[in-house]
Amino acid sequence: MLQIALVCSAFLLVCSLASLVKGGADYWSLPIPAQGPPPAETIELVADLSAPACGICHVQQFADWQESWHARSVSPGLLGQLDQLDGGTVLSCLACHAPREEAAARWWTEGLKGGAGLAPVDCTACHVRAHIRYGPRARSFTPHGPVIAESRFRKSDFCAPCHQFSEKAPRFNGKPLQDTYAEWRRSRYAKLDISCQACHMPGGRHRMSGIHDPELTRRALGLSARRTAAGLEVHLGNQGAGHALPTYVTPRLVVTLAGITPEGMVEPLLNHVIARQMEWSEETGWRELADTRLLPDQWQTLTLALPAERRARVKVQVDPGYDYHQRVYPALLHRWAGVLEPAARDLLEQARLEGVAASYTLIELECGVWSGQEQECVSVQGF
Ligand code: HEC
Ligand code: HEC
Ligand code: HEC
Ligand code: HEC
Ligand code: HEC
Repeated sequence: MLQIALVCSAFLLVCSLASLVKGGADYWSLPIPAQGPPPAETIELVADLSAPACGICHVQQFADWQESWHARSVSPGLLGQLDQLDGGTVLSCLACHAPREEAAARWWTEGLKGGAGLAPVDCTACHVRAHIRYGPRARSFTPHGPVIAESRFRKSDFCAPCHQFSEKAPRFNGKPLQDTYAEWRRSRYAKLDISCQACHMPGGRHRMSGIHDPELTRRALGLSARRTAAGLEVHLGNQGAGHALPTYVTPRLVVTLAGITPEGMVEPLLNHVIARQMEWSEETGWRELADTRLLPDQWQTLTLALPAERRARVKVQVDPGYDYHQRVYPALLHRWAGVLEPAARDLLEQARLEGVAASYTLIELECGVWSGQEQECVSVQGF
């Protein structure tokens, strides 16, 4: 029991983990039942359900998917933790990160050694049930027999089983730790029928990029800044994400308003964090410290007082893995210092470093001195 309490506390996720998975009825029961042996008439080329095998014919989808985070869902950060978790918790993690039952089976027999070979969120996880292919439309003749149309492929419901914790998951300040689908439902995008796929799979492409992609994130964040008599006036808003910007508890954006000294030194004067900040402690359990994320279409204004002769800068830094590399991984490495296998420790350390390296500057604007009239700041990086 103590073990479980420790484990639950240390993670982003919370105790009754089984309840985190929002088992979408029928098509999306997680984990996905093992496919079993292929039907007798199956030609050899299509009996193999691995992503590279699909990629022999579906070249574009495979190339896109390989670049996506779905292909990397069995990550060092995940694997490094599994060893120390109880069986029920591991099952729940694998349900979303390696959702095919065959993958889970391999974990139980091979453990960390087989870890890298676990199937991630792959073609078969999304498209194949009992060797039958499903897709957005029906196809009568293919090398793998008829493809069955499943209307959900074009709807946000399709993504919800993994991108929304269930109603039973614990809530902090009224929200579960992962609430992407519900955020979308409440937005104008749901009313306009603009699905997750419309933004994340334009033209059916499978890259499905998110906050790690500066180009996509630039479309999400609206930003303008003006030099006024008083100093700086900065407007920022979520103009292009169909959920909170960012949606998960891990990433953070920092908007820095800085003055430039006469010697040309950049002097940060105001740091505004955009993130849902969580904290855990033995005494209080989980707590939400602040939620400064921008909901869809939400805008805000930041101001900074400056002397008339001061130039200034506005910079937005994005740190997609912030909470993991700053809080979770260091806490786990410390807590498990005596018990962690060297291989698991290396994985967590690798995940921490990869998290740090993923940080990037999204936008940088330069603002002049007060010239007697208001002036827009101009982009030196980004837009
Ligand atoms: C030997 C070649 C081959 C292999 C291997 C193969 N497919 Fe296909 N697949 C096809 C062809 C041909 C079609 C017909 C539609 C087309 O022209 O894209 C098709 C159609 C589909 C469709 C419907 C596409 C649409 O346009 O609606 C899906 C979904 C699909 N395959 C998934 C898969 C998955 C998942 C795998 C791996 C588990 C796979 N296929 C392996 C050749 C292949
Ligand atoms: C309901 C599905 C679900 C469950 C259950 C789940 N995850 Fe995740 N996890 C996700 C999704 C989706 C993301 C990406 C979130 C985002 O970017 O919005 C993620 C992100 C992560 C990340 C950060 C990215 C990376 O891979 O380095 C780690 C680490 C992780 N999860 C570990 C775990 C562990 C450990 C468990 C079990 C204790 C777990 N997850 C349970 C869906 C899930
Ligand atoms: C996370 C779930 C997911 C994964 C993983 C995934 N797909 Fe898809 N796929 C979809 C969705 C959703 C659509 C429908 C997109 C649309 O039409 O808006 C789709 C559409 C397709 C189509 C129909 C043609 C098209 O491009 O619209 C093919 C073929 C296909 N996928 C093959 C693959 C192959 C091959 C892989 C692995 C390399 C793969 N998919 C991985 C969700 C997925
Ligand atoms: C109107 C376009 C739009 C819609 C609709 C949309 N997204 Fe996004 N999404 C974005 C943009 C832009 C980003 C990059 C900025 C960010 O992280 O919020 C993003 C980021 C993400 C991320 C990265 C992690 C994070 O913390 O932000 C995930 C995961 C995600 N979206 C999943 C979804 C899912 C699931 C749905 C449907 C329920 C969805 N998105 C609907 C535009 C959209
Ligand atoms: C079977 C579970 C599953 C399904 C279904 C699924 N995802 Fe994911 N998705 C994940 C996991 C797990 C991650 C985190 C991978 C990691 O970083 O370890 C993820 C990550 C992402 C990201 C994050 C990229 C970033 O930059 O952080 C986006 C965007 C995304 N998914 C979009 C979608 C969309 C859109 C759909 C529906 C078409 C979808 N996903 C369906 C499990 C799933």
